[in-house]
Amino acid sequence: MFLAPTGSGKTVTAGTLKMRWATTEDPPDIVLIDPVKGDYRSMVEALGGQIVRCPPTPRW
Ligand SMILES: Nc1ncnc2c1ncn2[C@@H]1O[C@H](COP(=O)(O)OP(=O)(O)OP(=O)(O)O)[C@@H](O)[C@H]1O
Ligand SMILES: [Mg+2]
Repeated sequence: MFLAPTGSGKTVTAGTLKMRWATTEDPPDIVLIDPVKGDYRSMVEALGGQIVRCPPTPRW
């Protein structure tokens, strides 16, 4: 978990680490939960990952 002020580089740091893991010889499964900004969308698309959209409100 990263805790740091707004604009201090949390997203870039987390994205760099995930790219390193995803491009290893035997990459692990990586699940990203990004409920607001979609910062990782282009990274997921570049890696051939899947984007799942969830409804913002419960349906029960
Ligand atoms: N290591 C770095 N070197 C140079 N620039 C960086 C570095 N890390 C982040 N930045 C730049 O700093 C800015 C903020 O980075 P980032 O979006 O990762 O911050 P954040 O902590 O996730 O912000 P927020 O809290 O708004 O989500 C961006 O313009 C990014 O390109
Ligand atoms: Mg961020």
